[in-house]
Amino acid sequence: MNAQAMPDMDEQARAILRGNDRGGYTVPTAGLYPYQWNWDSAFAAWGFATFDVERGWDEIETLFSGQWGNGMVPHILFHRPDPGYFPGPEVWGGIGPVASSGISQPPVAASFARRIFDLDPEAGLPVVARLYPKMLAWHRWFMEWRLDQGAVCITHPWEAGRDNTPDWDGAMAGIDPKDVGDYTRRDTFHVDPEMRPTKYDYDRYVWLVRLGRRLNWDEAALLEQNPFRVADPTMTFTLLRAQRDLAALGRILKEDVSEIEAAIAVLEAGAETLWNAELASYDARDVRSGQWANCVSNASFLCWYAGIQNPAMEAQYDRITSVCTYPVPSHDPSSDRFDPKRYWRGPTWGIMNALIGIGLQDCGLVERAENLRTSTADLIREYGFAEYFDPLTGDAAGGGTFTWTAAVWLGWASPSRPKGAF
Ligand code: GLC
Repeated sequence: MNAQAMPDMDEQARAILRGNDRGGYTVPTAGLYPYQWNWDSAFAAWGFATFDVERGWDEIETLFSGQWGNGMVPHILFHRPDPGYFPGPEVWGGIGPVASSGISQPPVAASFARRIFDLDPEAGLPVVARLYPKMLAWHRWFMEWRLDQGAVCITHPWEAGRDNTPDWDGAMAGIDPKDVGDYTRRDTFHVDPEMRPTKYDYDRYVWLVRLGRRLNWDEAALLEQNPFRVADPTMTFTLLRAQRDLAALGRILKEDVSEIEAAIAVLEAGAETLWNAELASYDARDVRSGQWANCVSNASFLCWYAGIQNPAMEAQYDRITSVCTYPVPSHDPSSDRFDPKRYWRGPTWGIMNALIGIGLQDCGLVERAENLRTSTADLIREYGFAEYFDPLTGDAAGGGTFTWTAAVWLGWASPSRPKGAF
């Protein structure tokens, strides 16, 4: 790649962020995802902050404007109605200050807040002071309602941000969606159905939304009645990392961070309950049935991002990356459930690569970190700012002009990225 091409890629990425900007928040991509998504926003904030720190902070502040009274930060904020998306606000019946869904998403906001703060501490200090109690309340909500032996559980597949990964197949099979009723999907109007979850999955997604709504999103009732409860590596590792980053911000603000330090110890122990010794990998654990998912996924490789070293995971990583032109696949290619084009059942995602790469770097696995950065940069350069990619061919899949892929380019993959912590 010649040096001349670099500014173009940066400029394209910035143009995507600006184009998806709806004023204070960014949509993941027009059409398919017309609202503000939780973890997408944290990535968007990071991308914006590479050229406009203030706009980066706005994104996170808008996200927290939707925080519920119990501390939960919803996975979607429906700021403005859009008939092109299902299930919309009237189906979810969120109970917060902004129309929203009723579940959360991987808590990466505090980690990106720390990074944005590092880019410009002076501008960041008052914002961090405003955000700190809100981030603390969100993390507390996870600690209070979502732990199983210290690992963080999800109550809906969408909560992990890895909607249809094989990790949930066992728990999904335990749901009988017979009374789900009629509904019309919108996602398959925008994208090839071969790349999207199946009707089998969708019936269960909608059934779980209806259950949550019927229970008015009461976490105690959901704990009792929801058949879907899975201890998940995505949530556990991202929360562990986010607690470490929040503690760092708290120290800067001269706050007492002992509660966060205690939470870190709980999550560190909880992460080890996700160790599936037979598989020799971190894995998802179905809390209701006690069964392992038996999946080496890209979320298994977030252990380093959480600050956990494990030589067996290095061996898994080397095995899996060696058979993919563009790693890291969302599911193990040697598994019979691997599907290179279907959403989270095989494809490579830039955001997961960035988190894995940051983790590898932080844990001193520098060569792997650099190789992953380079292969991801090549992938985006050759196949565009797609939602996700075929790990074997690189083919772009899902939505195009995607916010988080542009953000990952600017913050992590581009040769012009801001240097420093990550
Ligand atoms: C899909 C992804 C989820 C993401 C959302 C918006 O639902 O699985 O992780 O947040 O799209 O991009």
